[in-house]
Amino acid sequence: MTMFDIGELDDFEQGIARQLRIGDRVLVVIRIEETVYVLDDRCSHEEFSLAEGEVDVETAEIECARHGAMFRLSDGAATTLPATRPVAHYDVTNTNGRLEVLLP
Ligand code: FES
Repeated sequence: MTMFDIGELDDFEQGIARQLRIGDRVLVVIRIEETVYVLDDRCSHEEFSLAEGEVDVETAEIECARHGAMFRLSDGAATTLPATRPVAHYDVTNTNGRLEVLLP
C-alpha cells in the first residue's frame, strides 16, 4: 500500500466529481463538506467514467451518466441497477487540509 498526495481539500469543489490519474490508475475524487471520497473512475456495469456523473450530496452517492446506476461514495457499493458489483474505493486521510489516498 502506498500513500499518494492528491492536493488540498480546497482544491476540490463541493459535490463535483473530478477525474484524477495516478500512474496507470484512473480515479474519481468527490468532496462533500470536509469529506473526500476516492473511487475507481470506472462504472462496474460497462466501464463508463463515473467522473461524468452527478453527485447526490444528500445521500453521498454518485450516478453513472450512462445508464443511471448509483454508487455509495463511502464504500463503492452499487445501490441501484443496472450495476450489481461495487466499484473499488480507497481511504483518504486529511491532515490539516492536505489529502492523501492509500492505494494498493
Ligand atoms: S455504464 Fe454505468 S450504469 Fe451502465
